[in-house]
Amino acid sequence: MMAGPIEWLDGKLRILDQSKLPREQVFVDLDNYHDVVLAIKAMRVRGAPAIGVAAAYGIALGASGIETVNKDDFFAQLNQVMQAFAASRPTAVNLFQAINRMKKAARGDGVAEIKNSLINEAKRIHWEEITATEKLSQLGAELIKDGFSLLTHCNAGPLATAGYGTALGVIKAAKDQGKKVSVFATETRPLLQGARLTTWELMQEGIPVTLITDSMAGYFMQQRKIDCVIVGADRIAANGDVANKIGTYTLAVLAKESEIPFYVAAPTSTIDLSLSSGDKIPIEERSTDEVTHIQVVSIAPEGIRAANPAFDVTPHSYITAIITEKGIIREPYTEGLKGMGTRFS
Ligand code: MRU
Repeated sequence: MMAGPIEWLDGKLRILDQSKLPREQVFVDLDNYHDVVLAIKAMRVRGAPAIGVAAAYGIALGASGIETVNKDDFFAQLNQVMQAFAASRPTAVNLFQAINRMKKAARGDGVAEIKNSLINEAKRIHWEEITATEKLSQLGAELIKDGFSLLTHCNAGPLATAGYGTALGVIKAAKDQGKKVSVFATETRPLLQGARLTTWELMQEGIPVTLITDSMAGYFMQQRKIDCVIVGADRIAANGDVANKIGTYTLAVLAKESEIPFYVAAPTSTIDLSLSSGDKIPIEERSTDEVTHIQVVSIAPEGIRAANPAFDVTPHSYITAIITEKGIIREPYTEGLKGMGTRFS
């Protein structure tokens, strides 16, 4: 069996470099926190829950590398490590949830004990994402009928979660229940997570998948070729508004117009109860080179102005249900999401 996309091995973090898939399967061993921060920024590790898990291990790695035994000096340096992770990517709240938990876990009589607690907390965060994504997939599969053709966007499988997957987890669980399912995967410009990663993961599972460009989604909905849309999430506000990969909002509007259910699958670690609505979610702006180029090939005139917001927010009124490990939530979301996820102080 292939190793998982994120593994803690003998005090190092082993990641499957997602930027090279599907052409090459390259595992990289990271032995210092700077490299973990870089891997997150460069999207060698990506997907909201996977970013949180990688950051937790990265903080444990950073702590292990601090050489002082003086507790005050140790905490000063640990704080710098945490700040480096907090500045790596802004939208997925799982990152900030993991940092918060690691801060709280930094307890112990001496520095050695604190370092150990941090490794254990990172392992716990990883384990909880695995069990949460398995559970939500089982629950969500109940919404999928035999013969369903689903549309998904970006990548919300094991690569993105360091677990079972969210949107793809639900699809896999439906297949395991004996239902015949097939998938349309949008390519997901600019970085092509759908074309490169979702198709690769679904093909490995033996789930029939058709790759389409982002702009084909409306056509296939109009042709009644899609029974439901299912996506993951990077941050869910207290009122049920959902930030996810750019293009998700467009799909939700199309789905509503076509009277097709639009489902969001996410562990509760993706819920941010400190934000009352989605307009407060920070949206990452990435380099415009990602738009003017496809991988390394330039596709636009030299000097062209371009824009690259990496996420958008889908208002809760477009969402049929949010599937979490604690249950399937529908309107009114403010009620259903109460007590779930994190409230940052
Ligand atoms: O920029 P990315 O590739 O990290 O964005 C990922 C997504 O938008 C995923 O759909 C989301 O994190 C859900 S992952 C289970």
